[in-house]
Order: sequence, then C-alpha cells, then structure tokens
Amino acid sequence: MSDPIPGIAAPAHLRQGSSIGQPLTRRDGPLKVTGQARYAADNHPPGMLFAVLATSGIARGRVLGLDVAAAKAHPGVVEVMTPANRPPLAGDPDAKDSPFMFRLDALQNDAVRYPQQPIAVVIAETLEAATEGAALLAPRYAAEPPRVGLDGAAAFVPAAVGVGSPASFAQGEVEAGLAAAPRRMEAVYETPAQYHNAMEPHAIVAAWDGERLTLDTPSQGMAMAQARFAALFGIRPEDIHIRSPFLGGGFGSKGLANGPQVLGILAARLVGRPVKLVLRREQMYGPVGHRAPTRQTIRMGADAAGGFTAIASHTLTATSSFDDFIEAAADVAHTLYATPALHTSHEAVRLDTGTPMFMRAPGEAPGSIALESAVDEMAFACGMDPLAFRLRNYAEVEPASGKPFSSKALRECYAEGAARFGWAGRPLQPRQMRDEAGLLVGWGMGTATFPAMMMAGHARATLRADGSGLVETGAHDMGQGAWTALAQVAADGMGLPLDRLEFRSGTSDLPDAGIAGGSAHMATVSSAIHGAGGAVIDRLAALATGDERSPLFGAGNAGVVAREGRLHRRDDEARSESYAAILSRAGLAGLEAMGQGAADPAAQKAFAMHAHGAVFVEVKVDPDFGQIRATRVVGAFAAGRVINPRMVRSQYYGGMTWGVSFALHEHAVTDRRSGRIMNADLAEYHLPVNADVPSLEAILVAEQDPHVNPLGIKGVGEIAITGTAGAVANAVWHATGVRVRRFPIGLEALI
Ligand code: MOS
Repeated sequence: MSDPIPGIAAPAHLRQGSSIGQPLTRRDGPLKVTGQARYAADNHPPGMLFAVLATSGIARGRVLGLDVAAAKAHPGVVEVMTPANRPPLAGDPDAKDSPFMFRLDALQNDAVRYPQQPIAVVIAETLEAATEGAALLAPRYAAEPPRVGLDGAAAFVPAAVGVGSPASFAQGEVEAGLAAAPRRMEAVYETPAQYHNAMEPHAIVAAWDGERLTLDTPSQGMAMAQARFAALFGIRPEDIHIRSPFLGGGFGSKGLANGPQVLGILAARLVGRPVKLVLRREQMYGPVGHRAPTRQTIRMGADAAGGFTAIASHTLTATSSFDDFIEAAADVAHTLYATPALHTSHEAVRLDTGTPMFMRAPGEAPGSIALESAVDEMAFACGMDPLAFRLRNYAEVEPASGKPFSSKALRECYAEGAARFGWAGRPLQPRQMRDEAGLLVGWGMGTATFPAMMMAGHARATLRADGSGLVETGAHDMGQGAWTALAQVAADGMGLPLDRLEFRSGTSDLPDAGIAGGSAHMATVSSAIHGAGGAVIDRLAALATGDERSPLFGAGNAGVVAREGRLHRRDDEARSESYAAILSRAGLAGLEAMGQGAADPAAQKAFAMHAHGAVFVEVKVDPDFGQIRATRVVGAFAAGRVINPRMVRSQYYGGMTWGVSFALHEHAVTDRRSGRIMNADLAEYHLPVNADVPSLEAILVAEQDPHVNPLGIKGVGEIAITGTAGAVANAVWHATGVRVRRFPIGLEALI
C-alpha cells in the first residue's frame, strides 16, 4: 500500500525520516484482537471488592430512605455507602473554577438532580452480590415534577457557551440584509439529546496504599483527573497513579473526572480494600455526560446571484439544573460562509438532567446539521446547485474574525469529493432519481469543518548509550491509533527506525500530555514529542560537530541530518557517525530532553485555524415504507500533515459513521412524566451497524500548513461528523422532496 504523503516539508532533521506518513497498522492491534489488552475493568488487584451504584429512579427531588439493612444482610455484601457514612472529602464536588471542571455527584447529600444519579454504592465480595444488594435498597423518594424538554423551563442567556466563548456575536446589518434579500429562507431545526455510548463503559479500579492511590480508569485527560482527585481527597497529585493504557472509546465522555470515579475511590477508602466499580449501560445515561438537545432557528438572505446578504442563527439548548455546559451550535456559522452580516446567539433552559458535556464535535455537529441543511434550502431557493452555491459563498477569510486561514484546501475537497462521487449532472429538483428496484435516490452534500486547536502537552525523549531511543508522554489512545501514530512521530523526531524506539504512554507518571479532546491530541503531543526528540538530537549534534575527533567536526548543527540512528553531514552524506559512538566518546550514558506542545499565540492571533472537508452522500428511500439507507458516503478532507494515512482514514470512517448516526439513528427519548430516558440501552438507542453504512470512502486531500504547529498537523478526530450529518439530510430531501428538520430523520416523517 503506497499512500501519497500530504503535508509540508518536515522540520530540518526530520526531513529524511521514514516513519511519518507510513500507513502502519495499530501497534496495539494484536493485543486487542487476542484479548491481551488490559482495559481498566480487567484489573483485579488482590483483595478487590465489587462496587455497584444504586442510581435514582426519579429526576428531581430527595431520597427519603434506603433499606440499607436489607442490602447489608444479603450474603456477600460488605458495606453500603450512602451520604450518611460516606468518608469526608477535602474538596467540594460541587466546586467549579474552570469550564473544564464539572460539578460531580458523590453522595454529598440526599438531593436528586437527574435520573440515574448515584444515590448509594453497594460493595460486595462478588458483582452478583453487589448487584442484588443495590436492588434491595428499594429507595423511597420525595419526587418533584421533572423539568423536561426545551419548552420545560424558562430560557436564559448563558454567560458563555462551549468552553468560554461569548453567547452571541453580531457583525453587519443582519435585519437589513435579510429585508433587502430577493431570496430568503427561515427554518427551525431540532436535534435530540444523544449519549456517547462508548463501547467500554465508565469504570474504575481504585486501590489505596496509605495516602497513595492507584487508579485503573479510562481517561481522555489523566493529568486533569489527577488534579481533580487530589483536590477532592486532599492528597498530592503525584501520589495518584492513573493507568489508562487502553480505552474502548471515549467520544468526550471520558474527558473530565466524573462522579462515579470519585465514588469508586471513596468506596475503596471506606472498606480499606481495592474496589472496582463499572457502570451498567443504563447508568451511563446520567452522571457521565451527554449531548444536549438543540432547537436552531436559521434565517438566511441571498442576492439574485446567490451571494449571502445575511445569516442569522439562534440556538436554544439545555443544561442541567446545577451546572453549565452550553452546546455552542450556532458558532459554526462563524467559520464557513462569506456573508456581509452575521448574527449568532444562544439561549438555554435548565432541565432535570445530568450535565451535558463534550460529545463528538460539540457545537459543530448539531450546528452543522442545521446550517448545512439551511444552506441546501437556500441554494434551492436560489435555483442553484448546492456545490455551486457553496463555492459562490466560499469564505476566503474567516467571516467572524476577518483573519486569513492558516491553510484551507476546501476548494480541493469540494473538487476531489465531487469528482469521486460523480456529483456532476445531479438534477436540481428533488425526487427525480430511482434505482432499478424503484427506490427513490437522492444526493446531498455538506461542508465539514472543525477547529485545529492546540492544547498543552509535554514529552520526554531519552537517547540511550546503545543509540536506541525512549519517548515518554502521558497520552491517551481511545482506539484512534495514537500509540502507533505518536510512535511514528517519536521515531522520526529522534532520527531512529521504529524498532529502535521505545514509546511509553498511557499512565499519569509520564509527562503530562494534556487532554485528548477537541481533536487536538495528535497535534499537541506530536509537537511535544518532536520538540523533545529534536532537543536531544541538537545536543548530540553539538557534541559531534564540536569535537575534532568526529567526522562531523565543523559541520555545525545545521550542517547535519539525523537518520537511522546516525548523524550525517549534509554536504557529504557518506561522512557519518552513530549516536552510540558520539555518546560513548563523550563519556555519556545518555541524553535526555523535554518537549512541549502548545498554541503559538502569535500564530493564533494572525490566523484562523480549521480543518475542512466536503462530504457527498447518496441515500435510497423506499417510496412506500419510508425506509432510508445511506448507500454511499464519500468524504474529502484536508487536515494538514497526515502522520499515518491508515489511522486518519479510519478516523474519517468513524466520523462519517457518526454523521449517518446523527442524521438517521441516535435519539435519547425522555419520558415527560418521570423525566427518565426511556431507551437507555443499546437495543433501543439506535447506533448504526455495518448494514447501515454500506459504503464509506475517505479522500485525504493534500494540505500544507506552516502555522498551526511545527509539524503542520490538524486534528482529524471529529471533523467528519460535521459534513456528513447535513449531507445525509440533504440527500433525503433530494430523494423524496420532503424536508425533514427534526433529527434523527425517521421513516414516519417521509410517509
Ligand atoms: Mo472530544 S468531544 O473533544 O473528546
């Protein structure tokens, strides 16, 4: 398999590296398919007990009583933890001093704030005994009527949306632009509550040793979790050792410390033995986050030539009664289309639900399904092909900020995606195409976009006496292939072949790699790794080029290149010296350096940084029964340098599958009387299976970005959901002539 390697020329000593760009398979793949990969809940330290949560059956009110005696009398039950006997905490679980901190439920009192809130923990010798003990608690409640749905409470304007963006933005004369426009559209789009549903449930194995704590728990952000647990338990962060080598998916829900983790640690402290606590599937529909529903009102005006005169987008969404996470759905309009007037705004209601949080392109995913649907409606109102309309309104600079893009190969994405899909010749009118079986066929498209962010992360590189390398960073592999791709960067960063490079990651005693979120992990950690490796090689080069006994003497650091464990003179590649020889002559047992990945403030100020893509979808709809199938999905994405094309493609497949899922499947249904989620399981909460996404194709569009970070990497973890969901909706309209604005699109909307 020979993939082209898109991306900028590598930084100096990396230029001749051989690992970056290779489509390697996952290094941890064999461990996973043979069952040897040890996930958090696979750990059973000696003496371990099993903890099971009892969770609330009401959405709002108080717990009046629990039959603790009955539970404790059950054979095998060791202890029942309730607010009455829960060990004290040094910190307040309801404290919040950053948008990256969520208020947690850790049995601080008898209040119930949402369904499936933990109200007790039963600890037993076996899982079965703990489960039975939890059932015997038979809680009695004082219930209050739940606040449910976007009309279920008074709307307010939040102080901020997302992780600290302003709730509204205005530029230009929106109302005048709309009033003067010969073509206008206005529509309301509704997206449902969704739950992450990672395959691996949230889990923790907690073991205390005095004031030291060892935790096996899946985490997208070990260092932040360590800091939060340290504050809650009054111990030092460095005394908390988190191991999170493998995650069975995270999708945002494992990004921040959560209440069940705290309860697992408390349970272990209470009984003085290691404790394992794993959430049951339905218990993941409460304390560990979800995507809030949205109602988005979009108004657009266009001139006679199809150029936008104004875009206005208002989002109403929901948060919990006790915390704030506001889905920034309207803000996607800041980036995508040129318009002289733009207004985005958000409101929220407080419902009796667990606090929503980051989930698979938070903001952009629901925002883009509405915006891309609206753009499709506007294009049709202008009598224009949806692709031609998007090109007519192509944003040469970021509309909201006026900044140039650090790079933007979206035109190329449109062109390559359209060509591959066969978009040309698509009839403008809907309901024009049928297949040989008589099914209605429709083609739709959407633009994908996601910010290219940088978090803060660190790595350490060590060159050993034998010339081999060690790179260490506390990064997170959620299944996306980080171990593989980061090791590729590490090998090239030190100028070593992969088999001479040891890569360690996934535990909290390694340098803090920041959070695997916002699609920023590869960019951030690669920068840190590259910086660390580069620093080591720089020092090595200084040793060699300053030593007259070296064949590299006098070449200067810029005059050598690192390759395959040797430094070579650039002016005469035949003159080289091995790393081991350089170290040995210098009498060094090794060299070590740290590297850091972080946003470059000057570049951030100067440029708008986003990945882009274009997704083209074919659907087939049964004209009698309304059954919808996404039969073909072609996405073309430009996201800077590609470290491993196999992994990147795989991320795009996953994202496109989420997009199909958003448009056609996922929907958490709330019972308006009880406030409970009625389909809190994988049977009734529909996720796509292979039969729902028969053909996916991802095109890696070449893009060089000299500004986002040293390696020119943009993230690929979330972008592909954003173009796809709208493209599916637009294809359904094109197949049927029915514009469905309430998601997921069900067959009942089409017949
Ligand atoms: Mo992602 S929702 O930032 O893990």
